[in-house]
Amino acid sequence: MRLSVPGHKDLHKIVVLNPKGGCGKSTLAVNLAGYLASQGNSVAIMDFDPQGSSMRWLKLRPGNSAPIHGISAFDVRSSVTRSWQLRVPPSVRCLVVDSPASAPPENLAELTSGAHAILIPVLPSEIDVYAASQLMKDLLLIAKVSRRMGRIGVIANRVRENTLAYRKLMRFLNSLSISVIGVLRDSQNYVHSAEQGLSIHEMRTARTKQDAERWEPIFAWLEEKLETPLTPRDFRRPRVQTQVHQFNMQLPQD
Ligand SMILES: Nc1ncnc2c1ncn2[C@@H]1O[C@H](COP(=O)(O)OP(=O)(O)O)[C@@H](O)[C@H]1O
Ligand SMILES: [Mg+2]
Repeated sequence: MRLSVPGHKDLHKIVVLNPKGGCGKSTLAVNLAGYLASQGNSVAIMDFDPQGSSMRWLKLRPGNSAPIHGISAFDVRSSVTRSWQLRVPPSVRCLVVDSPASAPPENLAELTSGAHAILIPVLPSEIDVYAASQLMKDLLLIAKVSRRMGRIGVIANRVRENTLAYRKLMRFLNSLSISVIGVLRDSQNYVHSAEQGLSIHEMRTARTKQDAERWEPIFAWLEEKLETPLTPRDFRRPRVQTQVHQFNMQLPQD
């Protein structure tokens, strides 16, 4: 199923991507969405993952917190058309996309097409570093994102500094010509804030300050990418298109 989904020209798309489960996609997506909304932006979160973590987080969100529009893209119902289901309200300016763990390489082009920023969380473990290197290869060879590499930002997640695993991860990331835009600590603050439907920035406690500060370089990088206008090459398509799986990964085109 491939549908052209209506979008609008002022929409900024941030895609959180990594087929490896448990690396922090949903954590990153909800923290970003929460922060952007708390700054007065009109935000939507589109959840492609059947686990629905972002949608669950949204349901837990307190009524008095900055509103975020939720789009459950994994919920394939015959009662509504796909384009209606993926509809982004015209008032929304920032769309954060939480992608599924099982996203096959053939879907990377659709997922990343028209994105202002592509964020890839990577955990400091042998398995995750290997999976990340595969993902980079797929992004380059299958999704052909090589000409817009500047839009890809890697985030080292759940890091415990002064460990061998962390040093190995940083060595691997530095060997790629892709920006490592942030390093997030392994912290229970992410678990506690998620239980309340909040981002750590909305907690505003002394305990979360150290983690919130880790996001500053990420936000600075993101701001620059969101301000960089899209060009036709940001909509690059793979040469060989393959029809796959039950989910339509095509995102709204500006
Ligand atoms: N920086 C972090 N510190 C502590 N726990 C984290 C961190 N990032 C993610 N987690 C936890 O790891 C688990 C998997 O994260 P999640 O964001 O759901 O990954 P994904 O969406 O990639 O499958 C969750 O229980 C989440 O709370
Ligand atoms: Mg998830």
